[in-house]
Amino acid sequence: MACPVTGSVSVVEPADEAPVGAAADVEAEAQDFLRLFHTERNRPGLAERLAQVREEIALTGSYRHTREELVYGAKVAWRHSVRCVGRVRWAGLKVRDRRNVTTVRGIARELAAHLATGDNGGRIQSVMTVFAPDRPGVGPRARIWNDQLIRYCGHRRADGSVLGDPAQVAMTEAALRLGWRPPPVLGRFDLLPWVIETAAEDPTVVPVPRELVREVALSHPDHPWFADLMLRWHALPVISNMRMRIGGVDYSCAPFNGHYLGDEIGTRNMGDTARYDQLRVVATALGLDTSREDTLWREHAVLVINQAVLHSFRLAGVRVSDPHTESELFMKFCAQEERAGRPVFADWSWLNGSVGWAALHAVHHRYYDVRVPNPNLWQTDRAYDPEAAAELTLRERHDIARKQED
Ligand code: ARG
Repeated sequence: MACPVTGSVSVVEPADEAPVGAAADVEAEAQDFLRLFHTERNRPGLAERLAQVREEIALTGSYRHTREELVYGAKVAWRHSVRCVGRVRWAGLKVRDRRNVTTVRGIARELAAHLATGDNGGRIQSVMTVFAPDRPGVGPRARIWNDQLIRYCGHRRADGSVLGDPAQVAMTEAALRLGWRPPPVLGRFDLLPWVIETAAEDPTVVPVPRELVREVALSHPDHPWFADLMLRWHALPVISNMRMRIGGVDYSCAPFNGHYLGDEIGTRNMGDTARYDQLRVVATALGLDTSREDTLWREHAVLVINQAVLHSFRLAGVRVSDPHTESELFMKFCAQEERAGRPVFADWSWLNGSVGWAALHAVHHRYYDVRVPNPNLWQTDRAYDPEAAAELTLRERHDIARKQED
């Protein structure tokens, strides 16, 4: 679809529609991005670079980013992520260029290194590891099936109920189909293994290095019984199934992490009925009347869980954000972008979920540009869903392409 241009970035409308590259779009997007890179970084040599890239695209259908272009492009992809409230930190993203690592073994080793780097002893830093770009017209050269590098299993029981994270039932079953052996005694917080697939290797189950996974047991400063609920969460959210697109080039294997906002765990992961569903449990322990809605027992319970999350992470020395500080920082990001003469691309509805939502700065700021520019990070189909998993593997797709070339 056509890409209207704002300043020097190409944008697509409506949100959520991911551009996939026809050769012409690749060249237009490449131009936009290289112009952005040279302007914002104050680099000479734009005309030469454009000519070089045009030639490379004509020859191969794509082009290779320099390391500097890749690093800056990844930062801008974060800056453009309309749902992220933590973007004031975009320029500080640590980018690990691992485009030359293409085997399951090599990728697994780099994912482990990513966990250690992101974790940073609990002082979590924002990190992205970029593997080889997709092959145009064929598909990713590597893919991680998991939504995130650290997630808990959802074990479906015979009666249909789920032990663990219900959002991970399909991924858990996909790992089982691929030969993964679950722990002998199933629990609510069992780590899912990684499933990694490359252009030369079928989907492969790889255990997550346990010692690299930091977890925080949840307790509450005023309610000693809270610890008895035996709730916990992992310290590091590493999204591993989004496709980064920079200047017409797709990177389907580019896991990245920030640090948690308390609400993500306290409100959604613990509170959602389709997740750990703890509101009624906590409300009951608090002695609240859950037989009627006008006691606001849900709000009360969710507040207590959020307090527990922030308290426990702080106690454990693990970086975490509270919604008010984060919302104020987002206003700073808006001011920065406006000073730089750029539109603030954002999705209001994603920036403002919180227990005390109306007290957030960003709630009262409503003037965002709702288009979605590239570079950006795009949602992909879940590789572990039975239908997607039944399609050709990456190896089969790349084999067909190689044969057609011979
Ligand atoms: N909401 C997701 C989760 O609970 C994490 C999304 C990314 N969050 C972040 N703070 N970078 O796991």
